[in-house]
Amino acid sequence: MFPIQRMRRLRRNETVRNMLQETQLSTWDLIYPLFVCAGTGIKKEISSLPGVYRFSVDQLEEEAREIAALKIPAVLLFGLPETKDAQGLCSLSPNGPVQQAIRMFKAKFPQILVITDVCLCEYTTHGHCGVLTDSGEVDNDATLSILAQQALSHAQAGADWVAPSDMMDGRIAAIRKMLDDNHFEQVAVLSYAAKFASAFYGPFREAADCAPKFGNRKTYQMNPGNALEALREVAEDIQEGADLVMVKPALAYLDVVRAVKDTFHMPTVAYHVSGEYAMVKAAARCGWLDEETVMMESLLSMKRAGADLMITYYAKEAARLLQQRRNDP
Ligand code: PBG
Repeated sequence: MFPIQRMRRLRRNETVRNMLQETQLSTWDLIYPLFVCAGTGIKKEISSLPGVYRFSVDQLEEEAREIAALKIPAVLLFGLPETKDAQGLCSLSPNGPVQQAIRMFKAKFPQILVITDVCLCEYTTHGHCGVLTDSGEVDNDATLSILAQQALSHAQAGADWVAPSDMMDGRIAAIRKMLDDNHFEQVAVLSYAAKFASAFYGPFREAADCAPKFGNRKTYQMNPGNALEALREVAEDIQEGADLVMVKPALAYLDVVRAVKDTFHMPTVAYHVSGEYAMVKAAARCGWLDEETVMMESLLSMKRAGADLMITYYAKEAARLLQQRRNDP
């Protein structure tokens, strides 16, 4: 008779367990999203994202200082403009909230990598991620040049990476060309390559005031049932010049994260989205879950599934915990 495998021998105490942990989280893995609005003196909590705020640029500095102190390496900026228009052209203003925030970070916190969301939904009156045809459909090709100009305006303000989240076909090529033609060869493109039409974005739409005023995003974002199509989306974006590829949301799509990593061997990013954060916050407030443990387990799972980087509203809390644990032994 064979002896049974004593798997539990290597789980006996904290030391062996930590020594043999295959996946380790690090502060280097974290990207923190920030909502920047027009105006001054604004720091307003988003009700469906407890602990997350909208900041005007003047109020952002204190937050940036905290991010820097926690050694979070990167932020992802979303903008809320003063006024919106049908084509989202307000997003091109060199004095828009995102452009100003980029300049503030670059001037005062040059060690922080600045990534910007490139999309129209925060800037359009109708809330769709592209411009509309007369019949009210999202016009793919007419959207591309505005996205490319928006990316250029972020690069001109000093963005390190641009992250298009609109899901129009051909936008990576259009953005890459615009950046290269203007000598921004060093600006990287983080593509929201496999972005699903997900109900987990609910709280974000409150935060960024970008819910579509009619219809939904299903003609451009992906069907949650499709993993093979996700690989085709990612392949296309890599071919068009994406430097990093993202899967979004994260936890419900870890199979896609793994498939993308194994297939393409590209730097892979998982977006732990607003609804995923809100669910844990809500359950923790009810006393139904241990928030810290669930947060760390969730982030660890994303990394184990193949994510190199995680965009998460928990970045500050996770960094704080990692900092405390750093000298654990
Ligand atoms: C906008 C955008 C969305 C998110 C990131 N960029 C919302 C959407 O597509 O409706 C969601 C992020 C989150 O839920 O945290 N294109």
